Amino acid sequence: MAIPDMTRPGPDAVEARLNYSDGTSRTVFTTDVEVPFPEGRLIVSRTDLAGVITHANDAFVEMSGWQRDELIGAPHHILRHPDMPAVAFKGLWDDVAAGKKWHGYVKNLRKDGSYYWVYATAVPNIRNGQIVGYTSVRRKPSRTRINELIPVYRQWLEQEKSPS
Ligand SMILES: Cc1cc2nc3c(=O)[nH]c(=O)nc-3n(C[C@H](O)[C@H](O)[C@H](O)COP(=O)(O)O)c2cc1C
Repeated sequence: MAIPDMTRPGPDAVEARLNYSDGTSRTVFTTDVEVPFPEGRLIVSRTDLAGVITHANDAFVEMSGWQRDELIGAPHHILRHPDMPAVAFKGLWDDVAAGKKWHGYVKNLRKDGSYYWVYATAVPNIRNGQIVGYTSVRRKPSRTRINELIPVYRQWLEQEKSPS
């Protein structure tokens, strides 16, 4: 499912074109407005085997800025921020598809172009010995760790844009 291009939220927003791994692409606009992770809450979503959202809790809906009925049935890359390197998601997919748990820091894009950081734990949902989908639970991230990871992610992204 192709997600519609974003409309520019304001004059200072930065335009980017995202090419997703399913072959679709989308124009997004990002702002430097960060929305803090809500205290005392968990942000939860579930997907099918292809990463299409099948469940979103209230905190997920509120933080993403999308309506629940816009999220259910959409690919999870609806939240992909242009500052996130592809290799971070490759690690997630390699682990959960192999039946393993994955932890990581993710900068997520909200519908309005602002962003929020999370510390995510993604796991496969296993029924009768088969992986039937995936769940991710996000907690409040460590600011120290975010500050350590920003330059690391920037470097990975640069390498992906111009591999040497
Ligand atoms: C359970 C689960 C949760 C995910 N949560 C996020 C998320 O919060 N933000 C995000 O950008 N991608 C998330 N992803 C990864 C996306 O499916 C996707 O791989 C990523 O956004 C990069 O887009 P692309 O693979 O289409 O290039 C999640 C995947 C799974 C299986």
